[in-house]
Amino acid sequence: MTKKEQFEKLERMNAEALAGGGPKRIEAQHQKGKLTARERIQLLLDDGSFQELDRFVTHRSKNFGLDQQIFLGDGVVTGYGRVAGRLVYVFAQDFTVFGGSLSETYAAKIVKVMELALKNGAPVIGLNDSGGARIQEGVGSLAGYADIFYRNVRASGVVPQISAILGPCAGGAVYSPAMTDFTIMVEKSSYMFVTGPNVLKTVTHEDVTAEELGGAMAHASKSGVSHFTARNELDCIHQVKRMLSYMPQNCEELPPALPYAPADEVRPLLNDIVPENRNQPYDMKEVIAQVADPDSFMEVQRDYAENIVVGFARVAGRSVGIVANQPAFLAGVLDINASKKGGRFVRFCDAFNIPLLVFEDVPGFMPGTDQEWNGIITNGAKLLYAFCEATVPRITVITRKAYGGAYTVMNSKHTGADLSFAWPSAEIAVMGSKGAAEVIFRKDIDLADDHEAKLLEKEREYDEMFANPYGAAARGFVDEVIEPALTRQRVIRGFEMLENKVDSMPRKRHGNIPL
Ligand code: HXC
Repeated sequence: MTKKEQFEKLERMNAEALAGGGPKRIEAQHQKGKLTARERIQLLLDDGSFQELDRFVTHRSKNFGLDQQIFLGDGVVTGYGRVAGRLVYVFAQDFTVFGGSLSETYAAKIVKVMELALKNGAPVIGLNDSGGARIQEGVGSLAGYADIFYRNVRASGVVPQISAILGPCAGGAVYSPAMTDFTIMVEKSSYMFVTGPNVLKTVTHEDVTAEELGGAMAHASKSGVSHFTARNELDCIHQVKRMLSYMPQNCEELPPALPYAPADEVRPLLNDIVPENRNQPYDMKEVIAQVADPDSFMEVQRDYAENIVVGFARVAGRSVGIVANQPAFLAGVLDINASKKGGRFVRFCDAFNIPLLVFEDVPGFMPGTDQEWNGIITNGAKLLYAFCEATVPRITVITRKAYGGAYTVMNSKHTGADLSFAWPSAEIAVMGSKGAAEVIFRKDIDLADDHEAKLLEKEREYDEMFANPYGAAARGFVDEVIEPALTRQRVIRGFEMLENKVDSMPRKRHGNIPL
């Protein structure tokens, strides 16, 4: 072969690989409102930064005439590049080749980038759009999945892993995204389920559409499997990039910080947020908006367990993870789902050196047979465990109720928080005054001529003693009682003071979080 012929051959092969499943299948992909794997990568990465690997990998299967169907790259585009100048590893499943289905060699391509990510300490972004295991391949494909799952777990807590779901993701294939840190789904074009609607209809006679069973809204609001929902693919990629901006490259690094110019940090609006009437709801997101840098809050799992609000934000340019009770939803009570949601987010932040900022207004754990029988004990313990093991800088602001076990769970100083502030409206007590009065003054109330009046009197007595932050402040459980307007300033100073915090858990193989 002459040199010219050698170059021409390379050019031909490159062009063939870039063509994916061919113009017809690309057209079909576009018809569905979906982009191709390469178009997605182009949107994600900085211009010209993509470096592809394994472009000429092909499957080795001969079953069912597969040897007659060879596509260079074998249905997944893998490599590395930059997002906002920072290295990331990426794989994009190409639905135009065998429906993006996973073969043994395809899995090996994904494993290769995951191994590189682990060794070089940079995030892995998976763009998922696949019909699952390549049916013709049999066990080779299943082994390939297992190889990926294994790397997901080895990489967990070492480098951030993000899964974008941009098409089908079914069967065992769902377990790789499930083991990554964050999953984002595109409305109407993506779905995830272990068992699809057809099998469901046969086995359980349930009649549901793919969208109802495992679409973006189902997983955003019902199952909690997804953390973000995107209107379309563009929005999805934009959200992935935004997420990355809050995270470090790996567990050894700090998250990137934006420049911050010290300014007047007093926020008078905060003084008016908590209503006079202690049982009236208010929106904790208004508090977050005032304390965090403007427009910096990126909420995680917005539509799931809305009684707790979690997400990334910046304070004076630095990344923080926010965990906040939401009095506007179920009075901010902690239930099973809220505890799971909060616990997982706390653990992500702790794994990746993201300080925690907690806003607390919580009447307690949710009572009832439903909660008890479904394990509020084990699940509530997840949030408690997550806070207790977190060694990143941790600040709590108690805005109103801090009752009972929920007081201790929500990043109390006793569980290792570094600083705790309380607003004058804070009520730090074992329980609400009505319940407390009914228990401890029952005899007095029974003996009184006017039970109601006596109960009210005793409620007031209890209130005076406990419905304030000063008992806790007298013990040093609260470091300072502050005017709400000063919260942002105190939080900024607090995180500055904690900048060089060093803390660690005792040496062990690993803890045993109540799963
Ligand atoms: C091989 C596949 C495939 C698969 C799709 N294709 N899925 N080829 N293995 N798993 C091929 C189709 O034959 C078709 O090829 C092309 O991809 C496009 O598929 P269509 O069906 O035309 O597309 P669409 O109508 O959009 O439907 C998409 C789909 C459907 C819903 C994903 O293809 C489907 O149900 N696929 C099978 C899903 C499945 O059961 N997978 C195995 C799950 S078990 P042609 O040449 O006709 O264009 C699993 C186990 C993993 O994944 C376990 C891990 C532990």
